[in-house]
Amino acid sequence: MSAAQAGTTERFMAMKGGGYYSKATTGAKDVIDRATPLILDALDRMAPADDGSTFTMADMGCADGGTSIDMVRTVLARIREKVPSRSLQMVYTDLPKNDFSQVFQNIHGQSDLNGYADDISNLYVYASATSFHKPMFPPGSLNLGFSATASHYISEVPTEIPDHVHMVGASGAARAAFEEQGAKDWRSMLVNRARELAPGGRLALFNFGIDEEGRYLGHTGGVSMFDTFNALWQGLCEDEVITGREYRATNFPQCYRTVEQFIRPFEDPSDPVHQAGLRIDHVETRVVPCPFATDFKQHRDPVRFAKSYIPTLRSWSEATFAKGLSADRPIEERQAIIDSFYGNYESLVADSPDGHAMDYVHCYLIARKEG
Ligand SMILES: C[S@@+](CC[C@H](N)C(=O)[O-])C[C@H]1O[C@@H](n2cnc3c(N)ncnc32)[C@H](O)[C@@H]1O
Repeated sequence: MSAAQAGTTERFMAMKGGGYYSKATTGAKDVIDRATPLILDALDRMAPADDGSTFTMADMGCADGGTSIDMVRTVLARIREKVPSRSLQMVYTDLPKNDFSQVFQNIHGQSDLNGYADDISNLYVYASATSFHKPMFPPGSLNLGFSATASHYISEVPTEIPDHVHMVGASGAARAAFEEQGAKDWRSMLVNRARELAPGGRLALFNFGIDEEGRYLGHTGGVSMFDTFNALWQGLCEDEVITGREYRATNFPQCYRTVEQFIRPFEDPSDPVHQAGLRIDHVETRVVPCPFATDFKQHRDPVRFAKSYIPTLRSWSEATFAKGLSADRPIEERQAIIDSFYGNYESLVADSPDGHAMDYVHCYLIARKEG
């Protein structure tokens, strides 16, 4: 393995496993559940023929499949009604380190979630651990591709950000490098899907992004979540718990794109995405409030808020902070640093809870393959 390969996102990225992700990240489920009508409308517009061929749906970047489980059940049931003669193939995709076992436990009713696998006739469920930046399906075989809260992960960190952990806090050349990587990966994801979609097939892509008012995840007017991550990680560096090298090596492999950046490849006639026949049916931005901050407004118990809020941040961010630490440290030492980092965040929220919230800011895109 080359050094370049070792640094790629697919070598280390994973949400926290064992069911932790979807248990802690109920806001991501709200995002999907509330946008399910957009997918059902897309299906109506697609009007699939009841021609006996296999209909394939995919959840790309599924994590443990828990946050999409009710949406997938609803959509598959609707497809079953529309095309009774067609076998249904449901494919869950994520990166190799993902907890795919939990996906199957969830959908087969072997967890506390309401599994659907036995409720829909002539349904076959599979998984793929190939990155969505690469080819994943045979050409022309995908009918409905869904992905939520995943395409902000870029395939690699293009450069170190000297003074922040996330590209939203970067400026100058570092910011430009992340945006360039973001554009490149968005294009490769779309071009690959364009090749794989059947004519008339649809993509429903609900992506983290920066909305028309400059809002993004955890940055909607109160305390900014990524600035807090950065301040606490920098604090560990100042206290000599982590080194300067480790601080600078900690960068989320993510790019938050603006609406304009999302739609440009579809609209520019010279872009490979446009040329591959992908067109936008629908685009909008929405803010879905942080469920833990919403509960706090009712119960007003700061300790309870902090205890319930930090796991949702930890479920998706831990892999990035752990990766920043030197591999020369024993694993127990790395784990202790990570625990104290999230402990510091929890204390901060418990001591001064107002304004903390991980509100979700998404760009909702429905695209079709012409033909
Ligand atoms: C924040 S989770 C979202 C999970 C779920 N879709 C949801 O909305 O709750 C992002 C997921 O995308 C996955 N992911 C990141 N980059 C990916 C890639 N290149 N290919 C496939 N999955 C990827 C991560 O491993 C993670 O499971």
